[in-house]
Amino acid sequence: MCGIVGYTGKKHDCVNILLDGLRRLEYRGYDSAGIAVLANGKIESIKSVGKVKKLQDKINESAASTTSIKTASTGIAHTRWATHGAPTEQNAHPHMDDNGDFALVHNGIIENYQALKENLIKKGHTFRSETDSEAIVHLISECYEGDLFQAVAAAIKKIEGTFGIAVISTKHPDTIITARRGSPIVIGIGNSETIVASDLAAIVSYTRRVIFLNDDDIALITPDNIDIRNIENVPVSRETAHIDWDTGAAEKSGFDHFMLKEIFEQPEAITNAIRGHLDDSSATSILSGLNLSPREMSMINRIVIAACGTSLHAGMMGEYFFEDFADLPTEIQQAAEFRYRNPILEPNSMVIAISQSGETADTLAAVREATQKGAIVASICNVVGSTITRETSRGIYLHAGPEIGVASTKAFTCQVAVMLMMALKFGRNRRLSRQEGLEIMNEIRKVPELVKKVLDTAPEIEKVAERYANASNFFFIGRGYLYPVALEGALKLKEISYIHAEGYHAAELKHGPIALLEENVPVMALANDIPGRDKMLGNIQECRARKSPVIATATEGDTEIKNIVNDVIYIPRSPHYTACIPTVTALQLFSYYVAKKRGCSIDQPRNLAKSVTVE
Ligand code: AGP
Repeated sequence: MCGIVGYTGKKHDCVNILLDGLRRLEYRGYDSAGIAVLANGKIESIKSVGKVKKLQDKINESAASTTSIKTASTGIAHTRWATHGAPTEQNAHPHMDDNGDFALVHNGIIENYQALKENLIKKGHTFRSETDSEAIVHLISECYEGDLFQAVAAAIKKIEGTFGIAVISTKHPDTIITARRGSPIVIGIGNSETIVASDLAAIVSYTRRVIFLNDDDIALITPDNIDIRNIENVPVSRETAHIDWDTGAAEKSGFDHFMLKEIFEQPEAITNAIRGHLDDSSATSILSGLNLSPREMSMINRIVIAACGTSLHAGMMGEYFFEDFADLPTEIQQAAEFRYRNPILEPNSMVIAISQSGETADTLAAVREATQKGAIVASICNVVGSTITRETSRGIYLHAGPEIGVASTKAFTCQVAVMLMMALKFGRNRRLSRQEGLEIMNEIRKVPELVKKVLDTAPEIEKVAERYANASNFFFIGRGYLYPVALEGALKLKEISYIHAEGYHAAELKHGPIALLEENVPVMALANDIPGRDKMLGNIQECRARKSPVIATATEGDTEIKNIVNDVIYIPRSPHYTACIPTVTALQLFSYYVAKKRGCSIDQPRNLAKSVTVE
């Protein structure tokens, strides 16, 4: 998820507006940034690695020498969250065509960029970056015959994937052309000035009158006019909205906290994590980042997953998936434990390191330990170019976008989705039939919709949460595929509400913890209709017999459970191997609303850091 800003007009300093906009979008991605402006009939572009401040310094140094940048009145800018290609100046946006006539910034993922790139190279285009985005600007240049609309329409017809783009051209002064499919583009209407951005945070300081483009809309923008057409070049009218958010609210897209925004982003984030990885023709997943041939894959006889915290819980899901889908002995290990216990690894052992940040010290150390023991090491990370990804020669990115809230939410569900696809691949490399593979793929595709259904019940979950916000102690219990979810739910509650919450296997309660149950110790029981539910009902009775109030997650339509618990949170029906994702979404919301009721600092809980880069 990247940040895009464009400005054309003479009322404000173009470069300052672009930089100010990037600063307000920095939460969307911040590993590199760049601007391009139209100056004296040429495109001047400056890019830098690192945060927007680095770019600002570089512009100030260069502006001292070239007044053209300072006097420019039309330009585009970008702050990058790398998806294809590490964070380098070459890979930073804007990207330009060979002749320097077009500059482009892009937010999204182009699935067919390799084919586009090969075709454009054959036509003589020279690529300078590793990104998917650069293919678009060369494509526009290739399609250009004098009409900018026609060129952009022709180009986006060839694109598969998602994009929000803004383009400037030496051939069209005082003009920006913008288009979107799957990634937001909003246009701010000023007086003799127009701003375009990937979201409101870059705009609301300058104007409250905005237009949101629809998919496959193309807009030609000048300081005094906005001409919107569809991909067939037919004019379309889009209503002007009036925004009353302040910039703080806009950065969170109107949500009160980044954590809540990221919980609600999960349908889109999981869709992005899955995008391009499921192949119906072979009924398996395509995970080229693993760099494993089918033969090499078939030689792997053991998997060890190393991670910390929420990623550890995601790894526990992976253990179930790999053993169930692929009959592969799999072991989850807390990364710090792994590195100090002198793990037994053979050449056919595969170690998978899971880390949202890609910087967690213990997980990085586990990667190094596994590497020096000669294991096959892969990573599942969210941050492109992070240390763990650079030290593992194979891996899969989550494409979940920046996760700002310290409590991990969308990264967890995307990690689980990626592990489902990995287990499917190993399974189809072994005994999983084509039919079974197709069934699993179809269930994976349904996950974003399952999550959305849970998100639609947020008001009901908030009501339940408020009833338990004064608890001092909480138990989360689950079985089978929902056991790791119970641990994750407990972690969410403790880290943002500071309630002492413990996650336990439901069968483990009677081996000691049940001594703690009493009427002011609520229990969250994960009793969805998957294998183990009948035993969960027995565990619920054990808790009620000790006067503990019980909240149950249950599969929609299960009316029986209402009679034995205090509150029910309904989860849409799905197979046991995907039930974990909508269920954890409900627990994320539950924890969020408890913490909100308690007035906690949700995005930055006390004592916690987003990335634990120390032992
Ligand atoms: C998750 O809510 C926590 N903030 C924490 O447990 C986190 O999952 C853990 O520190 C691992 O981080 P990583 O995924 O970036 O390696």
